[in-house]
Amino acid sequence: DRGSMPTRRLAADAAGVAEAGALLRAGQLVAIPTETVYGLGADAGSATAVAGIYAAKERPRFNPLIAHLPDLAAARREGVFGADAARLAEAFWPGPLTLVVPVAAGGRVCDLARAGLPSVALRVPGSRLARDVLAAAGCPVAAPSANRSGRVSPTDADHVLGDLDGRIAALLDGGPCPVGVESTIVACLDGPPLLLRPGGVSREAIEAVLGRRLALPVAPVGAAPIAPGLLASHYAPRAAVRLDATAVRPGEAVLLFGPIRPDGLDAASASLNLSPAGDLAEAAAHLFAYLRRLDASGAATIAVAPIPETGLGEAIRDRLARAAAPR
Ligand code: TXA
Ligand code: MG
Repeated sequence: DRGSMPTRRLAADAAGVAEAGALLRAGQLVAIPTETVYGLGADAGSATAVAGIYAAKERPRFNPLIAHLPDLAAARREGVFGADAARLAEAFWPGPLTLVVPVAAGGRVCDLARAGLPSVALRVPGSRLARDVLAAAGCPVAAPSANRSGRVSPTDADHVLGDLDGRIAALLDGGPCPVGVESTIVACLDGPPLLLRPGGVSREAIEAVLGRRLALPVAPVGAAPIAPGLLASHYAPRAAVRLDATAVRPGEAVLLFGPIRPDGLDAASASLNLSPAGDLAEAAAHLFAYLRRLDASGAATIAVAPIPETGLGEAIRDRLARAAAPR
């Protein structure tokens, strides 16, 4: 009975790291902080442990998961790095970049964690605490965001417990996540590298390292999407979300960006500014927490001010578009 398992809150110290690693190695579910969002971790080599992730999240479908490693050497045991993947790993690891590469012979990430694909998604997180836990665990750790399926991703420990208390063995409390949006996902398979999901490393930074533009995946009509789980409504608050709002309607909650005061702001039921100075990195760090707070205010609609499309703005706009998608 998952509903009655007490969730232990572990401190971000040597004892907490050792305990989190031991629990993961023993097949338990542990929420761990990364620089992007909190991850719901399990031993990626154990189908039983990975199945527990789906049960705890109430995720209806088996999507492939990201396997987290403490360093590039460990990642090379799981996946095959061609020239592009190696260049990106050198440039951005540890950090908020996930690389989808062919599975290495002898790789430990189980079929369920890869959803049966011949490729594997690998990430060496920028968070020192996360890498310490991964090193202590000694196994690749599958970790989707530590929220119930369809909910807003968690960027602090209380968000995780709000969704998963009683359903996971432990939570390592590392405080708020500094990046605040999930990792950028780039596929380095046959052909040119593809941007599967915008995220914490900007497209511009990746293109500068590759020396060429990143292509987007083109799925044949009717085919399964190349990054399953990326397309449907996701990151959904309870309230409706209205994008690129330049004026506020009475009673709406408002998510602002930058110094501009939209018309009608005085009639808003609540408002928060992602970054009064208009800084996209600050806005990304606040995004999910502010969506949760405005949702908790009880407003029927959250109006969102225009966000630029450059740099981290691409990831922020992507997550907001999912929050606004029809459900
Ligand atoms: O920042 C992050 O990436 C967070 C933290 C916890 O590290 N993790 C995260 O994991 O966002 P998750 O499971 O929510 O996202 C994994 C995405 C899925 O949408 C999946 O479709 C894609 O990665 N993916 C995984 N393996 C893949 C593969 N072999 N081919 C294509 N897409 C893959
Ligand atoms: Mg997620």
